[in-house]
Amino acid sequence: MLMTNFLKKRKSVREFKNKKINPDILDEIKLYLDSLEKEDGTKAIRFKLYEYGEKLYKELRGIGGYSGVMIESPHYIGLELVDDKDRNVIYGSYYMEKLITKLNNMGLDTCWVSIGNVDDGIKKEIFGDMMGRIDYILALGYGKPKNPFVNETFSERIGVEEMVFVDKIGNAPSTDDLENRGLSDLFYYIRFAPSALNKQPWRFLLEKDKVTLLIKHDEGEKPNLIDAGIIMYYFESLGQSIGLNNKWELIEGIEQENNNYKYIAEFKL
Ligand SMILES: Cc1cc2nc3c(=O)[nH]c(=O)nc-3n(C[C@H](O)[C@H](O)[C@H](O)COP(=O)(O)O)c2cc1C
Repeated sequence: MLMTNFLKKRKSVREFKNKKINPDILDEIKLYLDSLEKEDGTKAIRFKLYEYGEKLYKELRGIGGYSGVMIESPHYIGLELVDDKDRNVIYGSYYMEKLITKLNNMGLDTCWVSIGNVDDGIKKEIFGDMMGRIDYILALGYGKPKNPFVNETFSERIGVEEMVFVDKIGNAPSTDDLENRGLSDLFYYIRFAPSALNKQPWRFLLEKDKVTLLIKHDEGEKPNLIDAGIIMYYFESLGQSIGLNNKWELIEGIEQENNNYKYIAEFKL
């Protein structure tokens, strides 16, 4: 499916049928998880498939997910990071989103589930010995059919003019700025990416020959690097469809800050 259609149609699924995924398909998923770890190549990012979702759901009910609203699904995939280095958090979510795209294309539904607030002792009981931490898991299965008489919920998105700055933080782009560079579709569709609490903290600073990804955050709040990796994945994939074949380069040390915008990475145009 074209990435633009995919992005517009994709959404988190929070209600799953009580139907397990066929073992052959689970094997295919396992192979894909291995291939993602290899592609990353650092051994700092691992994906673990939990085939028997009931147990995991029972242990996380009331404590996993937003405000303890745990999502029940027949299977889960854990994103394990060896440490919380910026690079690993960013590329952990980059590969998780690549995985989600693959799973959706296989006809499966998913939802990210945050478990960062779950006590480490409880996590150890659930996940066993780990080389690092699991703060996010993916609920995975077949979504329940939609009720055609009920309006579907839709998570609002910010406008392109709020998300993109030209030359300077705060400068909104004109339609021409984006059209002339062939970037208006890319920025239109990329907004459909998922983000934690739907905060959509991604901002793009567009200059003559590059785009810089910034993550907006409140005073005293840590920038959400998980959301950064997700948007980097979609930017590269959409970019490829319009002939932008570069990859993001993380900004050295990722220390630059400017009024609650953290500089994350640069993409040469
Ligand atoms: C890192 C991350 C963590 C998330 N955690 C949860 C969660 O714990 N519970 C939940 O219901 N949705 C969770 N979501 C889903 C987002 O709320 C959802 O992507 C966003 O509201 C946009 O909606 P959409 O995915 O349907 O477009 C998470 C998404 C991301 C990217």
